[in-house]
Amino acid sequence: VSQVVLAPSLLSADWSRLAEAVAIAEKGADWIHLDVMDGQFVPNLTFGPVIARAVRQLTRLPIDAHLMIHDPLEFVSAFREAGVDHMTVHVEARGVCGPGWRAPVRSHGEGGASPQDAGAPAPHDAHAIDLGALRRTLAAVRASGAGVGIALRPDTKLSEIEAVLGEVELVLPMSVYPGFSGQAFRPEALQEIRAAADWRKIHGARYLIQADGGVAADTIASVSKAGAEVFVSGHGVYRQVDPLAALQDLRRRAVAARNAL
Ligand code: DX5
Ligand code: ZN
Repeated sequence: VSQVVLAPSLLSADWSRLAEAVAIAEKGADWIHLDVMDGQFVPNLTFGPVIARAVRQLTRLPIDAHLMIHDPLEFVSAFREAGVDHMTVHVEARGVCGPGWRAPVRSHGEGGASPQDAGAPAPHDAHAIDLGALRRTLAAVRASGAGVGIALRPDTKLSEIEAVLGEVELVLPMSVYPGFSGQAFRPEALQEIRAAADWRKIHGARYLIQADGGVAADTIASVSKAGAEVFVSGHGVYRQVDPLAALQDLRRRAVAARNAL
């Protein structure tokens, strides 16, 4: 794998000018990243299939839905009908890992939970992921015809989902606790990205490695070097003075970091 895929996150865009934000992505990016949040798995609420369909009508770029929701199974067909191309589910979500696993970790940010909710992950009892439930979810996404991705919060290790790594098209070891754009990049994600790259090599797997959370001009080289090739960026694109120039700059930096290896 040696491509660079830029997937700007519309979460950071000015939604009163959605068509403009999508047009910028068409000029400088490869995919559109849609952050779907249910207010339960994460302390923020964003968009569902109705909005995904509106984005679909504005572009032919692949739509990459990042499902930060407890019950993705209930929405897979609706998102697919809306025209979503890939769906990435969180292994920690209740409907995915099975009941009784770790409590949600609350991030904080604009338009959502108050800063008091922030903080280090609460201690949890290690409880094995229900691989049967996880496989059912992955199979449902696959059966819908969409590409299948699996996302991990910063407190979940790649080693916990090794059993299903051969069954996905995309792996996302997140570099922030999901919930908000504009958070600081967590460098501990780099070792999980490296682990995903190593596993892929050793097992001859084909998945793409996605980086998401605080990926911007100052951090994209490090995630690119670590082995990611799909770069999600929200603030690093849509909160810049010139979002198209920002996309071009991100691509240059990702490619340069890769070539320097
Ligand atoms: C966070 C989302 C990210 C976020 C990225 O929960 O999954 O996609 O919007 O935004 P930045 O790049 O600003 O961290
Ligand atoms: Zn995302």
